[in-house]
Amino acid sequence: MSPRPPTPLVAGNWKMNTTVGEGLELARALRDALDGSGVEVELLPPFPHLVGVRGVLQGSSLLLGAQDCYAEDKGAFTGEVSPAMLVGICDDVLLGHSERRHILGESDELIARKLIAARRHHLRVILAVGETEAERLEDTTMAVVDRQLRSALESVEVGDGELVVAYEPVWAIGTGRTATPAQAEEVCVHIASRLDELLGEVANTVPILYGGSVTAANAAELFAEPHIHGALVGGASLKVDAFTAIVRAAEAARSGDAGSR
Ligand code: 13P
Repeated sequence: MSPRPPTPLVAGNWKMNTTVGEGLELARALRDALDGSGVEVELLPPFPHLVGVRGVLQGSSLLLGAQDCYAEDKGAFTGEVSPAMLVGICDDVLLGHSERRHILGESDELIARKLIAARRHHLRVILAVGETEAERLEDTTMAVVDRQLRSALESVEVGDGELVVAYEPVWAIGTGRTATPAQAEEVCVHIASRLDELLGEVANTVPILYGGSVTAANAAELFAEPHIHGALVGGASLKVDAFTAIVRAAEAARSGDAGSR
């Protein structure tokens, strides 16, 4: 019998959007719409919003994550936020997002150090990986994803339920060009087999998300793929109706899975 798939996760990466006031209002509306969902739902607002949004989500089923953290616990690192500061506020931290890799210049080595630091403070890590358009055209997608996974995971201990991997092809982020379900599934299958090699049995507890122009219109067909266990949503996570519809699609896909077992 194949292992039970991990609980699906739909996470909204707000990126650098919303004022604190707008963010609190959005969090309240999303909490009211999505509390008690049959899948995990998580909000990733900007740093200044985290304490307030934690208060809004208190007592609800929604999870809270940060969009990044630094690799050290404290010290002279102006402008950075340490994982120690997120403890007690956040459940998760997103690391390795392509905007941090490609706009902020983060290396595989720095992301690996951040991952070790986040795990030292028992934060679950959402590790984002994915190829650029040039890398896809050169047919190096799998090699790029392999390198990103290996460098992030080879020197850290990860236990059950402590890691999520998000496959986000850079060319699909914010462009409206979603990967086809078949393209996304092909890479997510590859990621699953690499995680088996790197993590052994723990790999069965790692949800693999797809991210890149996920909308209410395309979520259901992505979630129908067996190795896609949810989504990391950017633009659509700022709209209550769109994000709610994506969560509903994940719930429907999950009950379909349970029905077919
Ligand atoms: P979009 O959904 O806006 O394409 O962003 C995806 C993303 O980068 C989520 O982390």
